[in-house]
Formats: sequence, C-alpha cells, structure tokens
Amino acid sequence: MTRALTFCLFLLAVTVRAFAQEASITALKAGKLFDSENGKFVENQVILITGNVITQVGSNIPIPANAKVIDLSKFTALPGLIDCHTHITGQPENFYVDIFRRSSIDVAIESHIYTERTLEAGFTACRNLGSHDFVDVALRNSINAGKTIGPRLYVSGPYIGSTGSHGDLNGFAPQVHIEQENGVADGVDGVRKKVRRNIKYGADVIKFGATAGVLSEEESVGAPQYSQEEMNAIVAEAALWGKKVAAHAHGTEGINMAIKAGVASIEHGSFLNDESIRLMKEKGTYLVADIYNDDFILAEFAKLGFPEKILEKERLVGKTQRENFQKAVKAGVKVAYGTDAGVYPHGNNAKQFFYMVKYGLTPTQALQSATINAADLIGVKEKLGSVTKGKFADIIAVNGNVEQDITVLEKKIVFVMKDGKVYFDKTSK
Ligand code: ARG
Repeated sequence: MTRALTFCLFLLAVTVRAFAQEASITALKAGKLFDSENGKFVENQVILITGNVITQVGSNIPIPANAKVIDLSKFTALPGLIDCHTHITGQPENFYVDIFRRSSIDVAIESHIYTERTLEAGFTACRNLGSHDFVDVALRNSINAGKTIGPRLYVSGPYIGSTGSHGDLNGFAPQVHIEQENGVADGVDGVRKKVRRNIKYGADVIKFGATAGVLSEEESVGAPQYSQEEMNAIVAEAALWGKKVAAHAHGTEGINMAIKAGVASIEHGSFLNDESIRLMKEKGTYLVADIYNDDFILAEFAKLGFPEKILEKERLVGKTQRENFQKAVKAGVKVAYGTDAGVYPHGNNAKQFFYMVKYGLTPTQALQSATINAADLIGVKEKLGSVTKGKFADIIAVNGNVEQDITVLEKKIVFVMKDGKVYFDKTSK
C-alpha cells in the first residue's frame, strides 16, 4: 500500500515536472536564418524552443498561445558560433609578469571575465586547448552548473609536450622551475600516462605539441617535438578513452607525422605542404588555422615585453600560414574555426572571419567552419552547430548583412541565447 502510494506520488511529481517544462516555450521570429547544414540563408523563420531544445523550425509554424515571443525579424539568426582553439583562462599582459608573478589562482579568479566576453561576442561554445593546473576544467564545470556565465567549454587541461618543447618553460636558466601542473611528458609510456592523467582530471579532448611554436623561446618554429611513436601513442591512448586529439603543429614534418598518427585536427598548420593536404583529405583531418593572430602579435607583443626572438619567429610564420591556409581551402581540406583567443584579447573571436574570407572561403563556408564543422570536429554535431529540431537552443542574432559584409559579426551581435536561456539582448537598443 505504502509502495503503491509512493509510486503514485512519484508519477505525479514526474507529470508536474513535465508540465512545468512544457510551459517554457519560446518562439523566435527571425528575419533571416543561417542554415548551416546546407550553407544558405532562409527568410522569415519561426524557431520554437521548449526548455533548452529546439522543437520546430520553419516559415509556417503556428506560435502556441503560451509561448514567449522574441522578435528578431529585423536581424539574421545563426547557430551560436564555436571557436575550436581558445585559451580562455587568460590573455597576455606582460611576458615576464605572466610567467613569474601570476599563479594559477590569479588566472582562475579572472577567467570568468573572459568567458562572459566570449559569450557576449556570440560564441556559445569553445574548445580550450591548454591550461595549467586544470583551471579550464574548473571553469567548464562552473559554467555547466550555471554558476559562471560563459560558452559551453570542451577542455584539454594541460598541453602535452616534450621536455624543452613549446609546452615546457623555455629560455631560462636550469635552476628556474615552476611548480604547477603542466603537461611535460617524454617517451611512449610517459605520454600515455599524461593522457590518462589529463582524462582522469576532466579533459574532454587531448592537446599535444607535434612541433615547436612561436610564442615560446625554443629555437625553430617548425621542428618536430615528438617522435612518430610518441604521437601514435598519444592518439591511441586517447582513443581508448573515446577522446579526440588536437595537435599543435607549425612545421611540415611534424604536421605530416601528426596526421599519420590520426589526430582529429591540425592546429596552426603554418608550413603544411601538398603531402599534408593529401593526407588530411585522405584521413578527414580538420585544419584549425589561427590566421588573425599575426596582426595582433606584430602590433602589440613588443610592447608586452616579448623577446625579439619570438617576434622574429612570428615574422617567419604569419604570411606563410595565411597562404598555406588558402592552398588547403582550394584543395578542399576540411576547415574548422579556431582563433587561439587568449593570444589576442577575448571577445574578438569574430575578427578571424575577415581573413578566412580573404584567404579563400566564401562567407557561408566561413560561417559553416564556425558552426556545423566546429560541432563535427568537437564531436557534438548531434546537439550543436545548426538551428534544427532536436538540438540545443544555442542561437545568436546579428544586425546587418553577413553575406555581404562578414565583419558585422565583429561588432553587431545583438542577441545571444545559450541552452534556451537569453544572456544578451540588445535588439531594442
Ligand atoms: N600559440 C601559437 C604559437 O605560439 C601562436 C601562433 C601565432 N601566430 C600565428 N601566425 N598564427 O605557436
């Protein structure tokens, strides 16, 4: 008897909850909507949202009487933008201060400012590729719990890199050590253990350094920094845990080794060659090229105290990276949007669209790189990347004609909804 009563009460509770959820219906009326799956704009669309999920999209959809109507008829709605390469926990203020005077606690305490700015800029999801002490894991968890405002984050934790690599502290005397959780690991066993450790403490994705880098003091921007065996081991270990791998790679040889190892994406890709293009097409590897960065680094980094050696490396990389991006695009390599935000100030993520269009993508392809392709690379295409039935309601709106002028995305985002909740609404201003 008591059991039956408990069961009835349970059923009642479930029903009441279902009704409560049904009650929150939102109808967005969009003047235009970007259909990211088909790469085109459609006019006068109604988007119905129940709770956090899109339930209907179309031009002749009756709006339920209890729906909250949001009028975006003067604007273009798009799926929330996705940046596949960020360092959202911080941004450079001064080369030496950042390394020696700021702890991970300093970093963590300010990181919510950057997530909020990024969301306001229309980016409703980001991958974070590299963060000491798992600050990005904590940030992701806090955002998911609704305590911190920001995009959905898919995070890597510490960047896995060999001793002396781009992922290690570089350029200082041997007695200088910094006690913080980093991703330095060597040898097949060492890298496997590091992959396991990152996953143990919450990584969604594995990031490792296949080659040297620009913004660190080791020589050569392009030399491989892991052997083929180590790269293979990283990808194989990650696969055991169902995780994808992103490889930082500027130099030709390291790019090709990483593709062969089976990474999901090549980050930067500066010196990719015909062989890289052939391999990427064969394996379906994404190119995530941060082709806005060069402008900001060359204009600002000398003032931030970055050593000349680093600036010299940037001069070597910037132009070639853009030209090789164009080559890869022409050849039909898959592209996902990733900016390395955190090298430049957060909230400017959309500045890269201009360069992607300048270097070979059509405006709609550039938008696809930041929506459906990005969702595919992250492995969340079933839930994100387009405004279609069954996906999470991550929807933004822009004031202006994106097709004619992609730069409207930089300043004119007027509406941001994430997970069915409106975070920014500047439509009446
Ligand atoms: N994090 C990258 C590195 O240090 C930034 C490269 C920036 N330069 C560029 N042209 N994309 O290697």
